[in-house]
Amino acid sequence: MRAYRTQQFIRPDLQAHIFSQDLLDNVRKLKSLCPVKTKFCAVVKANAYGHGISEIVNILKRDGVDMFAVATFYEALHVAMISQQQSIFILEPVNPAQSVEEIQVCAQKGFHCVLASTDSLKFIREALKNTSSALNVHLNIETGMGRSGVEPESARQLLEQIADCPTLKLAGVYTHFATADEEDLSYAHQQHERFETFLNQHNLSDKGFLIHAANSAATIKMPQTHYDMIRCGISMYGYYSRRMKNPPVQLTPVMKLTAPITHIKTVPAGQSVSYGQSFTTQRDTIVAIVPLGYADGYRRCFSNTAMMKIGGHTAPVIGRVCMDQVILDVTKIPDIQLGQTVTVLDNDHNSVCSAYALADMANTICYESLTSIHAHVNRIVH
Ligand SMILES: Cc1ncc(COP(=O)(O)O)c(C=O)c1O
Repeated sequence: MRAYRTQQFIRPDLQAHIFSQDLLDNVRKLKSLCPVKTKFCAVVKANAYGHGISEIVNILKRDGVDMFAVATFYEALHVAMISQQQSIFILEPVNPAQSVEEIQVCAQKGFHCVLASTDSLKFIREALKNTSSALNVHLNIETGMGRSGVEPESARQLLEQIADCPTLKLAGVYTHFATADEEDLSYAHQQHERFETFLNQHNLSDKGFLIHAANSAATIKMPQTHYDMIRCGISMYGYYSRRMKNPPVQLTPVMKLTAPITHIKTVPAGQSVSYGQSFTTQRDTIVAIVPLGYADGYRRCFSNTAMMKIGGHTAPVIGRVCMDQVILDVTKIPDIQLGQTVTVLDNDHNSVCSAYALADMANTICYESLTSIHAHVNRIVH
């Protein structure tokens, strides 16, 4: 099975500083919202939301985490190489487009997989027919997310089929909220009610498998949905799914992205800067070049809009963000130096370059600001 291409190169000058203690504190604070027995599933898909999957798993494997959730089989293989203690949960439902070998490896390694259709059940049964290992499956119940869950009416049949199949082990029953991050929680409450009805109809509580539902937003705002395990991604990295007034726990962003100034020069008044002449200097302007751009995850729509921080000062991005360079106006910053460190993404919710601020500028959510940061950015663990 081919799981890796050649080694990804690293850009040592682009530094994503990962603060381990803040990560561990966020986990501890999220757990403090739940009963002690509640398990914690750390969602580390998408390169641990841009923080670096190897680095994050290495920190978390020591402390307080029961399970890692990833999107794909290949991420699961990667996590398994780093941590042997925690279970690994693959969120993409098992599907016949996967190879038989993948399913066999999942069973051998004890990965937890999602089951959401009869076709997938038949596929697993076939893939494991000559083997002795059973696959851990979690039944994903559709309660309103409208993605890959199985309708509650069909789930009964799947539960019976799982019980009849020696190569399938029911390890969990779960659902996923579509709107727990919104201020209006009425739809999330309806989803919760549908899930509760399903659990009660089939008498599924306390049967030795995990019942779970809560993502970060539900963990923070809907304590009645904690069940046996919470599945937290964004909150673990220090963010509320969207900015939140008076949160019950103070989360701290875990990552700060910095880069050096590689060039400084004075541009005379009246000269355009960067591609497309979208910015013309109104006065003699000292500009500094920072060596990252949209190919590194710093979005082109930040052109003429975003800010970076240098020491205690802010510097506006002028002109278009290029593929791998950004131009800052540093005229007002005293003693600007070549090689000086610039903060591109700050680990402070109120900063001009917080993940929220960057998300607002790109008309997106902080999840995307974080996951856009390229894997070749050097992750430095503190
Ligand atoms: C099934 C499932 N559970 C939990 C999460 C974690 O969500 P969040 O980052 O909002 O905590 C995700 C993320 O997309 C998910 O797909």
